[in-house]
Amino acid sequence: MSVEPDPAVVEGLDAWRSLPAGQQPQWPDQDALAAVTARLEKLPPLVFAGESDALRAQLAAAGRGEAFLLQGGDCAETFAESTADNIRNKIKTILQMAVVLTYGASLPVVKMGRMAGQYAKPRSSDSETRDGVTLPAFRGDIINGYDFTTEARTPDPQRLLEAYHTSASTLNLIRAFTTGGFASLLRVHEWNRGFTTNPAYKRYDEIAAEIDRAIRFMAACGADFDALRTVDFYSSHEGLLLDYERPLTRIDSRTGLPYDCSAHFLWIGERTRELGGAHVDYFSRVHNPIGIKLGPTSSGDDAIALMDRLNPTGEEGRITFVTRMGAGKVRDLLPALVEKVTADGRPVTWVCDPMHGNGITSATGYKTRRFSDVMDEVAGFFEVHRSLGTVPGGLHIELTGDDVTEVLGGSEEIDDEGLARRYETLVDPRLNHQQSLELAFQVVELLRRA
Ligand code: PEP
Ligand code: CO
Repeated sequence: MSVEPDPAVVEGLDAWRSLPAGQQPQWPDQDALAAVTARLEKLPPLVFAGESDALRAQLAAAGRGEAFLLQGGDCAETFAESTADNIRNKIKTILQMAVVLTYGASLPVVKMGRMAGQYAKPRSSDSETRDGVTLPAFRGDIINGYDFTTEARTPDPQRLLEAYHTSASTLNLIRAFTTGGFASLLRVHEWNRGFTTNPAYKRYDEIAAEIDRAIRFMAACGADFDALRTVDFYSSHEGLLLDYERPLTRIDSRTGLPYDCSAHFLWIGERTRELGGAHVDYFSRVHNPIGIKLGPTSSGDDAIALMDRLNPTGEEGRITFVTRMGAGKVRDLLPALVEKVTADGRPVTWVCDPMHGNGITSATGYKTRRFSDVMDEVAGFFEVHRSLGTVPGGLHIELTGDDVTEVLGGSEEIDDEGLARRYETLVDPRLNHQQSLELAFQVVELLRRA
């Protein structure tokens, strides 16, 4: 039996169109946009509402301290880089981090990629000027191209379709990798192959050996291993480009309620979370679990007002507050925010993004971050929650599975000069594979101090 939606609910999905919407492109050809969105409306959903519901329950558990969220991936995915190797390496990195955390802290880890849809970027300026030439800023592959030419930088709605298809093929590979045997804990050693000379990899290999032994012991006892052979891996991206999110929204036939089926989890960014804006209105009307970034200017009252709009009834797992204060500010600013939300009583899941408050420019001119600042913000996040008796529920990380050199420090000690070796990101600097594993090992220590 399918449940018909309330017509007022469906109509409400277009209310954002008459509200101020930050960070949207100026499409030069509205007819072309309409043709593309009509096509997107007819294409199959990328995820199912029931999967988003399962994730909501797991995020609720993370909010209670019964699980831990690990959300990671590129700052901006690109069409060109959505290759099998890149996708596999990112999944492998997240799975390795999850193994370290699960084994080290004896806590289920909810695994989520900033993947299969992370193509739209907020920018501080609408335009970019080079040598006297001004063009629209690069807003992500779903909108325009990175090359500094009029042709590339002009927003092109055909890119919405390419984003959909690239997301679909990325998700297909994610589903194949995580259910087809690759993610089986019986193969935990293989994810590390070829890297084992470095200290973080050596430590990983030791954990993998212990897991192997435990699994062989349980197999000898006749235990059943289905739960070890596959993992749930969720997709997420910033819900930024409403001309993409709206046509991918579907009515769940079980309940008659709308879900944004472009990803399991959508978050509202630091630059688009204004209460009267289009983004808050739109995501108040879909039933996915929703993240909200909270930067250093967010007050407790802002957080409460956002809950009033997005989760008035206090449904558990619906709201994840992703705080990104900066290492120097987290210990000062986070407590008041957490106290106010805790006093309100409606449950939220607290997650730390230790990336976006810690940007610097290197002496050599690269946009970078220090690994030590990233770790310090994570430590501050744990300290604040421990001292208030609230729950540090997860991490939101920009990472890649490759050996790039974009973030300073880590045990490889990437320095200002070293950044030039392999700096590949189009937007924000990402932890490389080894730095990601190091972070996981350090977070285990923080989780154990519960
Ligand atoms: C991001 O997550 O890439 C991002 C732009 O973050 P924020 O909205 O927190 O600045
Ligand atoms: Co970023």
